[in-house]
Amino acid sequence: MITPVLLCGGSGTRLWPLSRKSYPKQFAQLVGDKTLFQASAERLRGPEFAAPLVLTASDFRFIVTEQLAAIGIDPGAIVIEPEGRNTAPAVLAAALWLEKSDPDGMMLVAPSDHVVPDADAFRAAVAEGEKAARDGDLVTFGIKPGRPETGYGYLELDGDPGDFTPRAIPLKRFVEKPDIATADKMLASGNFLWNSGVFLFSVRAILDAFRQHCSDLIAPVQAAIDKGQPDLGFLRLDPAAWAGAEDISIDYAVMERAGNLTVIPYASGWSDLGGWDAVWRESGPDDDGVVAHGSATAIDCRDSLLRSEDSRMEIVGIGLQNVVAVAMPDAVLVADASRTQDVKTAVAALKAKG
Ligand code: GDD
Ligand code: MG
Repeated sequence: MITPVLLCGGSGTRLWPLSRKSYPKQFAQLVGDKTLFQASAERLRGPEFAAPLVLTASDFRFIVTEQLAAIGIDPGAIVIEPEGRNTAPAVLAAALWLEKSDPDGMMLVAPSDHVVPDADAFRAAVAEGEKAARDGDLVTFGIKPGRPETGYGYLELDGDPGDFTPRAIPLKRFVEKPDIATADKMLASGNFLWNSGVFLFSVRAILDAFRQHCSDLIAPVQAAIDKGQPDLGFLRLDPAAWAGAEDISIDYAVMERAGNLTVIPYASGWSDLGGWDAVWRESGPDDDGVVAHGSATAIDCRDSLLRSEDSRMEIVGIGLQNVVAVAMPDAVLVADASRTQDVKTAVAALKAKG
């Protein structure tokens, strides 16, 4: 069986004012009729999957249980991290936890804040990766790159990925978050795919990889589990032990260093909703390029996103072009559609203001 390992401890600031520290984007209904987290759990449901293992922060534990209950999913376990130490300690904690009950098992590590519209195609890609993962490889899922993005990892193949039929291809190299000049070169070469952030491997293989490439993490994470407290059905990791784990992502800690990597090319739609421009695209704009969501009305607008998350707050746009407007009960964002990446800077400025 494959255990879905759902990571939902992050806080996306680029989707402010909807995504907040106390209620990050993965728990919001951004696209479609479920939250991103619910859609991620739903996607990994089926005879080949065990109940999901969820890793999250203390503040989100009840959101997680409520949102899973609402779609009829019983989590296998919910592990609470006393503080966010990034994805490497979280994945290692999941592997060490699963080792106790299913040392020969497989795990599918999935972010909980992505949009993957074709769940069947996604599960088929996972099935394609299963053999390589059983044989001990760390399997990644590669997306056709569309721009020299510096916020992603890149997967180098030996040649052109060809027609993108999902199949297992040995990977030459993993490069996490390159600078813009390197990203430009990788895009031009045609031999690189974007790392989707989803990983499939056996419990054994990822533990071996941690031992080989990032062994300092093992003692603190193992201690955080061993000294952890069961709490209302959650496992609360021991804060003192956990604080001793390095804050590092799985991409830097393991993927960039490992040699046994495989990629499954994936071309059936994927977005990490890295900004309001992506939300606009994934929401299915009308013929004028307009998305009006919630209590929102667009009159003679083009290429714009108008969203109100509050039924008492009607938002009306007239004659707008390339505008993003998002209204929450306590904050409103109005931005040029080409500047949505600057929302992150705005949030930092607001924080500094106190
Ligand atoms: N439980 C837990 N604890 N989850 C976490 C933590 C943590 O400390 N930190 C991040 N996460 C969750 C996030 O909520 C998200 O679902 C997932 O782990 C990935 O973390 P991000 O912080 O969003 O990573 P990234 O977007 O910068 O980069 C990753 O994803 C890209 C694709 O979107 C990398 O894997 C890149 O290589 C990849 O291209
Ligand atoms: Mg991300």
